[in-house]
Amino acid sequence: MKTVHCLNGPNLNLLGAREPDIYGSETLASIEARLRALCAEKGVALRFAQSNHEGDLVSWVQEAGLAGEPVILNAGALTHTSIALADAVKGSKAKVIEVHLSNVHARESFRHTSHIAPVALGVIAGFGPRSYSLALDALIGAEAGDAPRTER
Ligand code: DQA
Repeated sequence: MKTVHCLNGPNLNLLGAREPDIYGSETLASIEARLRALCAEKGVALRFAQSNHEGDLVSWVQEAGLAGEPVILNAGALTHTSIALADAVKGSKAKVIEVHLSNVHARESFRHTSHIAPVALGVIAGFGPRSYSLALDALIGAEAGDAPRTER
């Protein structure tokens, strides 16, 4: 694995100021810096991006999938609504780990549905910024062949 894409959806640019009781006080820039340092340690390049626009995420997932590069994806609310993003994962065969800062299953029922989860390698939710480093670890393990893969 040469490059990992970490893609972030709507409103994640507001981290730090946005509902800190749920999402904590760390900014997205700080999450990026920590993930970048971890990637450097592991010898992988990181492409880190955020957009409030569904189409950007669709295009970025397609690019990663077609390049055969894995994705750490926090799609924000698009997780619960976007069939287009799920189709992009499926259609481009992107290896995706779905991440969330918060434990979406302990929140409102509309957050219990994910269109991404059925086409993802796995889901990590509820560990704050650590969800991202756990996802990196899982991806490195999956590349080394240590993860069982459910047929999808
Ligand atoms: C989130 C959870 C989503 O339900 C929410 O819409 C977000 C953030 C998380 O990281 O906990 O924007 O993806």
